[in-house]
Amino acid sequence: MSNIDPRALRNAFGTFMTGVTVVTTHDPDGNPIGFTANSFTSVSLEPPLVLVCLANSSRNYAAFEQADGFAVNVLAEDQKDVSNTFARPVEDRFSVVQWQKGPQGSPVFDGVSAWFDCSMHKRVEAGDHLILIGQVEAFETSPAPGLGYARGAYVTAAAEAEALTQGAKLIVSALIEHEGKVLLMGNDLGKLTLPETRVGKEGASAALARLIAETGVEAEPGFIYSVFEDEAREHQHISFLCQSAGGTPAKGTFTQLSQTTLMDIADAAVCTMLERFANESRIGNFGVYYGNQTTGQVRPVGTGSTRA
Ligand SMILES: Cc1cc2nc3c(=O)[nH]c(=O)nc-3n(C[C@H](O)[C@H](O)[C@H](O)COP(=O)(O)O)c2cc1C
Repeated sequence: MSNIDPRALRNAFGTFMTGVTVVTTHDPDGNPIGFTANSFTSVSLEPPLVLVCLANSSRNYAAFEQADGFAVNVLAEDQKDVSNTFARPVEDRFSVVQWQKGPQGSPVFDGVSAWFDCSMHKRVEAGDHLILIGQVEAFETSPAPGLGYARGAYVTAAAEAEALTQGAKLIVSALIEHEGKVLLMGNDLGKLTLPETRVGKEGASAALARLIAETGVEAEPGFIYSVFEDEAREHQHISFLCQSAGGTPAKGTFTQLSQTTLMDIADAAVCTMLERFANESRIGNFGVYYGNQTTGQVRPVGTGSTRA
């Protein structure tokens, strides 16, 4: 007898995020059956094998034990209701999805991130579960982001990321460094700014490439140095640290970050970031700032330093 508490263990197993799937097959009468499972794992590429674990207590245990195949439907972020339906004793679970028979015969769903239609490769009894190992006979993927599950709750990472940037207009700036100096431009009020631009539909990487090209200097787009929201919470700022091989700027001047220069920086948050940059340049150990204009955290960057 193990002295491990199964409930505590289940909670511990639930701390890492998994995807959510619905595993389907047909019962001996040909009726579609399925259950929600997050135990899905890829096993082998050659041959292509996957596995899923079915609880001995499942009402569908006997059917899966006899089935000659099963399909794994990887649910998309907007399919929480499908997950819930296939995890509860609902009369007709299949009424909540559009589905059809996959090439191997098991039900595959519309709108999923992916499905894998499998022949039964092997069944392995393991404790209070039966491991179903399937050989993938056909599969399909879609760009729909997958639904996540951790600590007993669904995680919709892509939807949350989109909500975060929705409405918040994104501004990208380039902290272009050359031999200890930083490219700064003068604004209409005689203050100094970094080269910056709004991010349109093109996305942050393309906006950064455009921004660098406009400065007329040769610079490599580097890593994200700072991410912050302005006080009015209107703009999300992303600043990239970019190393320059030199060249004459079409706009702005490479400037030493002295105290006098820092006092002329137009934006308080950018000034703080450049102070940090000046300090970190000295010790050659960069971090990334996450936060808003007044509070935040600097976390170290794994690479340690981008300086030669
Ligand atoms: C997110 C999530 C993941 C689950 N993963 C599994 C699993 O991997 N294996 C399993 O047997 N049950 C799993 N369950 C529980 C079953 O879906 C649930 O017990 C279901 O009612 C079983 O149906 P059945 O008895 O009709 O087979 C999970 C439930 C949820 C909500």
